[in-house]
Amino acid sequence: MAQRRIIVTSALPYANGAIHIGHLVEYLQTDFWVRFQKMRGNNCVYVCADDTHGTPIMVRARKEGITPEELIARSHAEHSADFADFGVAFDNYYSTNSPENKAFCEDIYSKMLEQQVLSSKMMPQMYCEHDQMFLPDRFIKGTCPKCGAPDQYGDSCDHCGSTYSPTDLVEPHCAICGATPALRDSEHIYFELEPFRDFLSEWLPAHTPADIANKLREWFGEPLRGWDISRDAPYFGFGIPGRPGKFFYVWVDAPIGYMASLKNWCGKNGQKFEDWWQDAGTEIYHFIGKDIVRFHCLFWPSMLRCGGYRGPTQVFVHGFLTVNGEKMSKSKGTFISARTYLDHLDPAALRFYFACKLNGTTDDIDLNLDDFVQRVNSDLVGKITNLASRGAQMLHKSLGGQAGTMDDAGRALWRGALSRADAIAAAYEDRDFCKAMTLVRDIAEEANRYFDAAAPWSLVKTDPEAARRVLTSILNVFRALAIYLQPVLPAYAAKTASLFGEAAYTWADLPTAFENRPVGKYEYLATRIDPKAVEAMVAASATPPPAAPVATAPAAPAASGSASKEGAAGMTPAPRQPVAASAQSAGVVVSIDDFAKLDLRVAHVVAAEAVEGSDKLIRFSLDLGEGRLRQIFSGIRKAFAPESFIGKNVVVVANLAPRKMRFGVSEGMVLTAENPDGSLAAVLASDDAAPGAKIS
Ligand code: MSP
Ligand code: ZN
Repeated sequence: MAQRRIIVTSALPYANGAIHIGHLVEYLQTDFWVRFQKMRGNNCVYVCADDTHGTPIMVRARKEGITPEELIARSHAEHSADFADFGVAFDNYYSTNSPENKAFCEDIYSKMLEQQVLSSKMMPQMYCEHDQMFLPDRFIKGTCPKCGAPDQYGDSCDHCGSTYSPTDLVEPHCAICGATPALRDSEHIYFELEPFRDFLSEWLPAHTPADIANKLREWFGEPLRGWDISRDAPYFGFGIPGRPGKFFYVWVDAPIGYMASLKNWCGKNGQKFEDWWQDAGTEIYHFIGKDIVRFHCLFWPSMLRCGGYRGPTQVFVHGFLTVNGEKMSKSKGTFISARTYLDHLDPAALRFYFACKLNGTTDDIDLNLDDFVQRVNSDLVGKITNLASRGAQMLHKSLGGQAGTMDDAGRALWRGALSRADAIAAAYEDRDFCKAMTLVRDIAEEANRYFDAAAPWSLVKTDPEAARRVLTSILNVFRALAIYLQPVLPAYAAKTASLFGEAAYTWADLPTAFENRPVGKYEYLATRIDPKAVEAMVAASATPPPAAPVATAPAAPAASGSASKEGAAGMTPAPRQPVAASAQSAGVVVSIDDFAKLDLRVAHVVAAEAVEGSDKLIRFSLDLGEGRLRQIFSGIRKAFAPESFIGKNVVVVANLAPRKMRFGVSEGMVLTAENPDGSLAAVLASDDAAPGAKIS
């Protein structure tokens, strides 16, 4: 078969968050497919990058008191380590904040200008005077105009599900500082899609899954709306040439990042970009989730077309991951980061399970944790791996570790296993990994039946050479299975190759019989999952990491009433907050230095609930502007209804050493006031205080 030249991409993960198991649905399936192509001898390059630009990254860096460049460098290192540890083998993992990307962006933009497919118009957008920036929808919060739920984002309500524009919010406020934003006019640049209507209506059905194409074509009934590609300073991204103060919207340079990563790879490998991307014989595939089809199937092909670049051969769209049938949830501990998974379990188990579930459609896939344990233990360990462990160990124990030849029944079994090669290859090619795994499991079941019927453990006592033939047959079938599994379980296949004293497998190694040769010592290939490890992983995902210990207190309280104190404490500039109530003087004199040791913060109460099994405790989920929620237990349930705190701003001692309690870790203390009569009153910060604002 002729060697194919293939470029494969996965969507570029945002640099402002950790890789989680939802992401892995995509990166693992892409990796399976790429490894399969390489095993088949195709010339396949897998490129990806961090998606580094945009407001969230800029804001997050500011909050942490670092530059966006520092933030994206850190993410790049973390993401790279997560991917490497999960066996995701990119040929290049680059960054959108790169010179190659900037050049491609400017090139495509110049073609847009030339072809006059850009327009501009004034558009009013929410602006925060305090932060001096335009606020994207997700950075505006307020009360839902439909259902009245407080604290909803500017584009949609999590409570009732309605969507709206930020100007519809009741009492909108800036999610960064809490100030009330105002509408401000600014000029925006639009990439017109209408000129690409005919091109797109032909392109879509030929290059995207049918359900996606049909969905997108629903929009073709009316004129296609232009796409707003500019953002105003301050923005972390590429400036638009000749338009001071305007930047390319992150979604413009993100997909161009595929080309930039490829170009960067070409530079490092003595290849020419034009020979790859531009060559009509090259196949280009994008793996993406169904949430980002608009960008990949409407804007992206139009941009490429306009820029005179090749479009993708196919956009492969997958569904979303649910865990135990529900959306991943932080409170249920099912929002599991790649790193937390690795702390508890073998990456091969998730690779195998996802392969069992993925069938190449856009359907969502479910990680049912009980099924996960069961599937890995019974299929991968019980049915498949056992062939190798029992076979090799028996051969070593009684027959000097030497393989002989296969017997007739065994050879027939092995030939049967090889006869499935084309079906398995076709399943891989179609990204029907589920089907490939089923075919592999079927062969393993046949081999187990043969194994049990031949009973080599007793045969060895009466006819050792017959037993050798049985074990040799079993090991040959297992070898074929390991080759079939190599795209999904590369480390497993590599260990199998070394068991047989062979080099890394390609598909062409399948028909070689392993006979009359010594077998290496069996080393662990896969072990059973202990359900306790899964429980521990879920518990670790539900419990936020411990807070910073006391003693290394942040900066002393500001001497003046000045508005902001960026940096030292890593906080967003925020107005000094009045405290609505304060504790009574206890009569002990403390120095200013003692006081400075206490890190008092405004905490926004996201959730507060009675703790089941305790009549004293309230469990708070608190936003201290840290990009994660803190859990604090407080023994005040007798005095307060938990719900009375929700949506309010409380005062928290943020640097108390975390305390492990029966119900979880408590990361700080919620302050309350004791009245002279011993009754308790809430200590609240004013509503316009930003989460995490330091109290001094
Ligand atoms: N940065 C953009 C992509 C730019 S591509 C030019 C982005 N990043 S992301 O980090 O949010 O998502 C990266 C990929 O992971 C997307 O394809 C997305 O669909 C996928 N997934 C993220 N969460 C997912 C699940 N829970 N389940 C399955 N895939 C998910 O979008
Ligand atoms: Zn603001």
